[in-house]
Amino acid sequence: MSTENTTAESGGFIASVLTEIFTSPLQLLLVGIITFLVYKIFKSQTHSSPPPPKPEPALPKLKKRDFTLEDLKPFDGRGPDGRILIAVNGKVFDVTKGRRFYGPGGPYSAFGGRDASRGLATFNVTGGADSYDDLSDLNSFEMDSIREWEMQFTEQYDYVGKLLKPGQEPTTYSDEEEEDTSAQDTPSV
Ligand code: HEM
Ligand SMILES: *[C@@H]1O[C@H](CO)[C@@H](O)[C@H](O)[C@H]1NC(C)=O
Repeated sequence: MSTENTTAESGGFIASVLTEIFTSPLQLLLVGIITFLVYKIFKSQTHSSPPPPKPEPALPKLKKRDFTLEDLKPFDGRGPDGRILIAVNGKVFDVTKGRRFYGPGGPYSAFGGRDASRGLATFNVTGGADSYDDLSDLNSFEMDSIREWEMQFTEQYDYVGKLLKPGQEPTTYSDEEEEDTSAQDTPSV
């Protein structure tokens, strides 16, 4: 009984509101404007959202080669082709597709063109070593961390070659070797 009453009452209320809206021109105008705005908001969310950023054309894969710390430096993403290389645990990776991380202005841009090993192990994103870093003072926990990062980079990025110690001769890679040699086959430095 009381439920029916309430329903009937609210039904009457809605009816009277509708009557009010559709009899007053001002109300009608406001309802029109609100409907238009709601429509615009809905439309902007479903249809005219900005198109996804165009994937930058991938650079040609680098020929396999070894790098000294000096060789690595130009590849910090500021060069003409924007290529970014990073060394982790003696291995050089092409991280160009991770430009939003390692490129200019990225959170880890200080790793671009550098040996990031120590920084990754010590949660220090402010730079890489300026001279060859043999990492010999790092503890086993930090070295484990570096190996984990190395595995992550191996999965995500292209391996390019080794980071050379001072005086170490670069490996001569043949073209066939380039095809079937992966980072895992190369002994860690
Ligand atoms: C408050 C501190 C930090 C926050 C909130 C943070 C956040 C993040 C997030 C959200 C990602 C993943 C982004 C994505 O995959 O789209 C990421 C990736 C990464 N972070 Fe951090 N991070 C922090 C500190 C650090 C530090 C201290 C280091 C250095 C050891 C570091 C190194 C990295 C690296 C190397 C990646 C991988 C980027 C890639 O995929 O190549 N982060 N971080
Ligand atoms: C982080 O690394 C930079 C550059 O190698 C160094 O100057 C700085 O002292 C380090 N910061 C910490 C907290 O270890």
